[in-house]
Amino acid sequence: MSALRIGLVGLGTVGASVWKNLRTQENLLTPRCGKILRIEKVAEKNRARARQADVPEAQLVDDWRELARDPSLDVVVELIGGTDVAADLIRESLSHGKDVVTANKALLAEQGRELTAFAAERGKRLLFEASVAGGIPLLLALREGLIANEILSLHGIINGTCNYLLSAMTSRALSFQEALREAKELGYAEADETLDVAGHDTAHKAVILSALAYGFWPALCEVHTEGIQNVDPLDLHFAQELGYRLKLLAILRSHPKRGEIEVRVHPTLLRKGHLLSSVRGVFNAVAVRGDVVGETLFYGRGAGGDPTSSAVLADLAFLARGKAVSRELPPSSGRQTALTLRPMAK
Ligand code: HSE
Repeated sequence: MSALRIGLVGLGTVGASVWKNLRTQENLLTPRCGKILRIEKVAEKNRARARQADVPEAQLVDDWRELARDPSLDVVVELIGGTDVAADLIRESLSHGKDVVTANKALLAEQGRELTAFAAERGKRLLFEASVAGGIPLLLALREGLIANEILSLHGIINGTCNYLLSAMTSRALSFQEALREAKELGYAEADETLDVAGHDTAHKAVILSALAYGFWPALCEVHTEGIQNVDPLDLHFAQELGYRLKLLAILRSHPKRGEIEVRVHPTLLRKGHLLSSVRGVFNAVAVRGDVVGETLFYGRGAGGDPTSSAVLADLAFLARGKAVSRELPPSSGRQTALTLRPMAK
């Protein structure tokens, strides 16, 4: 059986989970893709991380350029974060005939239009399902499942760290700093947590959602962005008392008559009972309203290694299959017996 030969750059929280889960899910992925998904090389300078992830020395290189230029690789997975080096890595890989998978929302928000055009000019793919809402296949839904809809609005909790903080401060009365420490330990927060708490990470993801929903990449400076850094525990307490929950939302809305797309990020009071008000902890949820379908809701873990790696693996599977969504049933798993539950005899 042929293989999709992968170069993985970066063994942080997400990279280490991609390395691990490609193995644990191999028996599912191979028959579903009709190809073996094989990581041939890993670029990671930090040897301690590589040892912790159990990556054999023989597969390790220090310099990502080796992977970008390696003619034996089909795809490079960029999971180093940051914008400067990551942009060079993506361009170099595409220039050398590779498809690229990335989770880099900051880079896409800054250069998404240019990078996707750069890939298209070379007949290559730049895929980024993992860049928004962790494990929720939201970009796939916007691209495929809702293709027949004009997207009227999108309201989303799309930063797991902020939602974790607001939830922990409300339900466990933790201080902002205590909750942030936990979110960092759990691998949810960015290396620079200001990106999370000041709302920038949510704004980055909102820009990407705008590109998917409207084909429009707004400049970051056009996105009104407020974070949760000034939220006081008292604000949360009074919100509760008055029957509200405070959530950091990304809000996108189309104004077709004016030919405008509104994109904003700010803490928002939601009445208890609102679809998004009960989303707790690291979970993300996005309500998308289409003109044909009406309201839809997407929910799942929005940060952390495992959920985010699930989205990276989906992009790799897409490349392995060479098509967007399989309309066929998956191959038989060999399990043929249904478990029938009968009511207990009286
Ligand atoms: N720091 C991000 C979050 C990671 O908390 O949502 C996932 O994009």
